[in-house]
Amino acid sequence: MTTNSVGCRTTVLVCITCRASTEPTDSPRKGLALADATTHALGDAVDVNVLRIRCLGNCSRGLSAAIRRENSWTYVFGHLDAERDGPTLIAGARLFAESTDGLMPWRGRPDPLKRGLIARMPPLNFLGEPADPKAGAPDARADTP
Ligand code: FES
Repeated sequence: MTTNSVGCRTTVLVCITCRASTEPTDSPRKGLALADATTHALGDAVDVNVLRIRCLGNCSRGLSAAIRRENSWTYVFGHLDAERDGPTLIAGARLFAESTDGLMPWRGRPDPLKRGLIARMPPLNFLGEPADPKAGAPDARADTP
């Protein structure tokens, strides 16, 4: 595994236990197909790490995946498509890898990672906004343009 230009590894976590809403319960899980497609989209490249995970707590909005990077925000996505979004997740991870502020850029982000954004969570070392109301309005670093 390698690190990007700012020294951070980027990982895609694909839920392999997700089912599509229209998927029969006795068929292979589409989440597993999405994981396979993501691994296939990465090919022999080593700039992104792809891991499989069992449930991201986003089951009703599956298929689900997350993209995280050291010292950066973590993004959870839903409503993904097994046939379409393996390359989408790799493209999003590569875009995120080049970010210099720890946020996944909105501009250039694949559309399924815009429409399918469920949540973003701060890095472990995030200190938050001051609790003092006299400190003024928080610095809005919205995830939208
Ligand atoms: S089974 Fe995939 S998020 Fe729960």
